[in-house]
Amino acid sequence: MGSGEARFSMNAIGATFTPEMAGAVEARLAFLVEATRPYQTGETFLNFMEENPTGDRVSAAYSPEDWERLVALKDEQDPHNLFRFNRNIPPSRVGPDPDEGLPSERVKTTEKRRKTMTKVLVTGATGNVGSQVIQELLERGVPVRALVRDPGKASAMLGEGVELAVGDFGDPESLRSALEGVDGVFLACANQARQVEYETSVIDAATEMGVGRMVKLSAFGAEIGSQIAFWDWHARIEDHLRASGVPSVILRPSFSMANLLASAEAVQYTGKLFAPAEDAGISMIHPRDVGAAAAVALVEDGHDGEAYTLTGPEAITFEGIAGDLSEAVGREIEYLNVPDEAAQQSMIEQGLPEFVAAEIVAVFGVLRQGAQDRPTGTVQALTGHEPSTFADFAHENAHLFAPPAMQQDEREKAS
Ligand SMILES: NC(=O)c1ccc[n+]([C@@H]2O[C@H](COP(=O)([O-])OP(=O)(O)OC[C@H]3O[C@@H](n4cnc5c(N)ncnc54)[C@H](OP(=O)(O)O)[C@@H]3O)[C@@H](O)[C@H]2O)c1
Repeated sequence: MGSGEARFSMNAIGATFTPEMAGAVEARLAFLVEATRPYQTGETFLNFMEENPTGDRVSAAYSPEDWERLVALKDEQDPHNLFRFNRNIPPSRVGPDPDEGLPSERVKTTEKRRKTMTKVLVTGATGNVGSQVIQELLERGVPVRALVRDPGKASAMLGEGVELAVGDFGDPESLRSALEGVDGVFLACANQARQVEYETSVIDAATEMGVGRMVKLSAFGAEIGSQIAFWDWHARIEDHLRASGVPSVILRPSFSMANLLASAEAVQYTGKLFAPAEDAGISMIHPRDVGAAAAVALVEDGHDGEAYTLTGPEAITFEGIAGDLSEAVGREIEYLNVPDEAAQQSMIEQGLPEFVAAEIVAVFGVLRQGAQDRPTGTVQALTGHEPSTFADFAHENAHLFAPPAMQQDEREKAS
C-alpha cells in the first residue's frame, strides 16, 4: 500500500497467497484506513497492484526492472488473484469520528462532463434496478435498448416507447446482436447459479464489440472468498470486468428496500413482519437511488475505474421498518424476529430454491453483525440528491402491505 503521489504516507504491506488471505488483508487495511481517517489530510490510496491497461499508476511508482520483478513474483506466487489497482479512499476534510459513518467515497463531482452516449444497453431491464436505470436514462434523453426475455412483460412494465432486444444471458448470439451499435452497458443479473457465467459472457461479448463503458451492479460486501456466495460471485465478475480493459464502474449497493416486497403478503394477512434480523441497523437503499447512481456512472465522465458503495441515508432496524409501514398503511404492523431455521423453511415453502433461502439467511447473519450499519454519502455525492428513506418507500408501496379489505376499499373509491 502506498502512493507515489502522497506527500506523507503510511505504508502497510501484506503479502497474500490465497484469495482468503487477500480478503483478510484487505479487511485489515480497510480497518486501518478507517482508524486513521481523522488524521488524514489528503487523499489516501490503497494500491493493490494490478496490471491495468490504462495508465498504470502503480507501476509508475517503480523502476521498470523492479516492476518486472514484482509482476514475475506475483505470477509465480499468486497467479489466480488479480492485482487490484489504485482504489481511492476518500480523504477526511474535518477529521470526523470514524464511528460516525462511512463518508462518501471519492466521487468526482467537480467536473461533470457528460459523455454523449449513442445508445445504452440495459440488462436485467425488468428487474428492480434495471427498470429504474431505464427511467433515469430516458429522463436524461439517452437512447436506451433493453435486453429482455419476455417482450410482452417488458413492454407492459417499461412502456411501449423502450426499444427491446429479445435475448438471454445464456445465448451469446442474442447478446452480440443486442450489443450492436451500443456504446454503454448496464450489467445486472438475478442471483442464480449461472450468474458468474452469464455476466462474464456479457462482458466478453461487450469487450469483443468495443463497448466504451460498462456499469456493473455488484453488491455491498463483494469479496472473493466471502461466506456469502452471491458476494463471492460478484467479486469474481468484478475482477473479470477489470481484466477486460473496458472502462467500467462498479456499484455495490446495500440491502435493497425492494426485498421487503417479498414480505408484503404475510404483512397483508397477519399484520406481522417476520425476519431473522434481530435489532440490526441496516443502511438499506431504494432501488431508484441505485438506478440514479447508475445513470450518472453511465453518462458522466470521471468515474471509470471506480467502485462505489451505495446505501440509503440511515441505518434502520426491522422494528423501525414495521413502524414506517404501520404509519404508511394506517394499521399496526408488528415486527417479530424469527430464528434462522424458521426463516429458511418459510422461504422454501414460498417457493425459493433451498440454496437461495440459505444464502438469504446467511446475509441476515452478516447484517446482524453490523456489516451494513453505516451509511455512505455516495448516492448524494453522485446524484446531487439525498437518497430516499424507508419511510418514502413505505408510502410508495403502502397499498401492497395493506390488508385485503383495505385494498378493496381503495379499489372501490378509485372506480
Ligand atoms: N436484493 C438486494 O438486497 C441486493 C443488494 C445488493 C445487490 N444486489 C444484486 O442485484 C442483482 C439483482 O438486481 P435486481 O434486484 O434489479 O434484479 P431482479 O429484480 O431480481 O431482476 C433480475 C433481472 O435479471 C433478468 N434475468 C434473469 N435471468 C436472465 C437471463 N437468463 N437472461 C436475461 N435476463 C435475465 C430478469 O429478467 P426476467 O424479467 O426475464 O426474469 C430481470 O430483469 C443481483 O446480482 C444481486 O446480487 C441485490
